[in-house]
Amino acid sequence: MKIIGTGRSHPSLVVNNEMLSQILDTSDEWITSRTGIKERRIISSENLHDLAIDAAKKALSDANMDAKDLDYIICANVVNEFVSPAMSCLIQGAIGANCPCFDLNGACVGFIYALEIAESFYRSGKYKNILIVCAEEPSRMVNWHDRTASVLFGDGAAAAVLTEGDNIKATKMSASCSWDRLYQKHELQYSPYNTKPDSNQPLVMHGQDVFMFATRAAIRDINAVMKASGHKPEDVDHFLIHQANLRIINNIKEYVKQPDEKFPLNIHKYGNTSSASVPILLDEVNKEGKLKRGDLIVLSAFGAGFVSGACILEW
Ligand code: UT7
Repeated sequence: MKIIGTGRSHPSLVVNNEMLSQILDTSDEWITSRTGIKERRIISSENLHDLAIDAAKKALSDANMDAKDLDYIICANVVNEFVSPAMSCLIQGAIGANCPCFDLNGACVGFIYALEIAESFYRSGKYKNILIVCAEEPSRMVNWHDRTASVLFGDGAAAAVLTEGDNIKATKMSASCSWDRLYQKHELQYSPYNTKPDSNQPLVMHGQDVFMFATRAAIRDINAVMKASGHKPEDVDHFLIHQANLRIINNIKEYVKQPDEKFPLNIHKYGNTSSASVPILLDEVNKEGKLKRGDLIVLSAFGAGFVSGACILEW
């Protein structure tokens, strides 16, 4: 497949580090030096699905495609206010598409998981035009009294439209279960037969374990897609890395020994927006006119599970 359109949508509220230091025992100095984040967008009056719909419409318009021509919609999402139906159904209705759709929970790797699935759907010969939407509101998962996790995340949505092409050169996906290093349990309805305690628990994160996993997994996955596609780091024009922590991105940059210009950043503006992170960055560099036809792009992301994935594609 090839990507022919991108779009993104952000909540209107900007929450900077100074604002967080008024409600948490933290500081701009700590957050900036440990993560690279200066501010993030947080959902206040908006609905996440409205951001998802907005991002989807922008991507369709960028691709010059009518929603009626879509053959599938895949939405990557971890939580939103609907347990059911899937958010992709809300998007499908709002944009006026007729195609089937489903949601996937690939944590922060959702976009790359969706790309690989879209590519497989296309290769099956059954579907041609596929919309991927990633929409996340981690601000509704974290404990806002826990300074270690709440300062890291931001909310947002981004989308990409794909059609037939030979531009996805290689993908590498992985999962290795260490669920207790990064997780959230949500509240379920009362059952008279349930004998277990309530599971409701805000996000739990063992930051240093996630950090180590993320660095190792990203380097391994990037190596794997380079090898599979027969490319070297110097052939790659853009490395779009999940914007979770500037220090993780710097470790990857040091490993591949490529210049800063190849690693666009927006972590200072948005923090970690989970699966929306990579496609938000993709849309930014696309709209800034930084992508030329034929450019080689590496995408890499990692997250709760642990899961990770990378993709090398030609623009
Ligand atoms: O999509 C994947 C999602 N998650 C991630 O990518 C997270 C990956 N991990 C990280 O980014 C880093 O581990 C963190 C940014 C979460 C933490 O950085 P760190 O350098 O590993 O710090 P630390 O956990 O070792 O904490 C150092 C100190 C501790 O204080 P003491 O014990 O040294 O007195 C923490 O209590 O910093 C303290 N601390 C804070 N201080 C001010 C932790 N959070 C904060 C905070 N403000 N927000």
